[in-house]
Amino acid sequence: QKLDIELTNIEKGGYDHFMLKEIFEQPQTIFDSMRGRLDAKNGKLTLGGIRDHMDVLTKAKRIIIVACGTSWHAGLIAEYMIEELCRIPVEVEYASEFRYRNPVVGEGDVIIAVSQSGETADTLVAMESAKQQGAIILGVCNVVGSSIARLSHAGAYTHAGPEIGVASTKAFTAQLAVLCLMGLKIAADKGSITQQRFQHLLDELQDVSEKVGTALELNEQVKAIAAKYKNARDFLYLGRGYNFPVALEGALKLKEISYIHAEGYPAAEMKHGPIALVDEQLPVVFVATRDSYYEKIVSNIQEIKARKGKVIAIVTEGDQIIPGMADDVIEVPEADELVAPMISVIPLQLLAYHIGVLKGYDVDKPRNLAKSVTVE
Ligand code: G6P
Repeated sequence: QKLDIELTNIEKGGYDHFMLKEIFEQPQTIFDSMRGRLDAKNGKLTLGGIRDHMDVLTKAKRIIIVACGTSWHAGLIAEYMIEELCRIPVEVEYASEFRYRNPVVGEGDVIIAVSQSGETADTLVAMESAKQQGAIILGVCNVVGSSIARLSHAGAYTHAGPEIGVASTKAFTAQLAVLCLMGLKIAADKGSITQQRFQHLLDELQDVSEKVGTALELNEQVKAIAAKYKNARDFLYLGRGYNFPVALEGALKLKEISYIHAEGYPAAEMKHGPIALVDEQLPVVFVATRDSYYEKIVSNIQEIKARKGKVIAIVTEGDQIIPGMADDVIEVPEADELVAPMISVIPLQLLAYHIGVLKGYDVDKPRNLAKSVTVE
């Protein structure tokens, strides 16, 4: 047993927990997931795993993304990316709902199953039934040779390496990188993107690992914010556009690791319910980096402040407006809104981690949760 403990400590590579190690690995794992695929310098993108299916993909009438948990959040961001880049309608489904509700699916549809483990039972069965009905199935998995990878017609692996922490972190950002590459590849072949925008996004992807590294330097600052809010009973996470699923993911991380009740919402939707919860006790995390939704989210922040909520804002470096309104500000590097989620999620992962640790919980193995849900 002593040997076991020592081995585990070596595997943690000097970090207190696997979760923290995996959060800090992200500059590398995002890079690894794009290695050999992204060649920004020469304006090229290669995705060998879907090469033989480009005809079907560019002609797809619809793309349906099926996933669970954190992978489902990556799917939501991919919906925004793919619709914008490829002009193909995208639906994102909880695999557990999709498999049981006799969905309308068939030829001309492309299913993308997103799964870290490649073994999630609901995702597996959802794709099986769509496959029987004639859809083309792509897998985006982290585990090579996993059931979902084997059942797919084609796909692209994420190369995040083994993820040990039960709450997914590095698999999520790797999924975002790969799904963005997929969207860009389809868009380029389909001709639905200008050469200029294509090159710009390749350059942005090229730079994203370094920016994630910069965001990780916020660790101590986020830890101090965690100490300040760790006794809150509830948290609200708000975002718009590409940052809306990031808000959902931030709330999920906090629930998983710290057992604090947290809800993620599209910021504008808060007036239809959650705003009733706002008082001086409620921390509200805004994912408010500079993008095409920025002005709108500024007014959402005002609405929360008018009700005395505590605002923790994730903003783009150099923001002149939000720091004057928020109680706590976390500045992350500027990025195109398509790749910004890979950066803006970093402080949210760290916030959940530090609150969990400060509350004395086992963040690598949160109660009641399994790393991979292979049964219903
Ligand atoms: C479990 C894990 C989550 C994960 C989800 C989907 O609930 O605790 O971290 O996001 O399953 O898993 P998958 O392996 O399919 O991505």
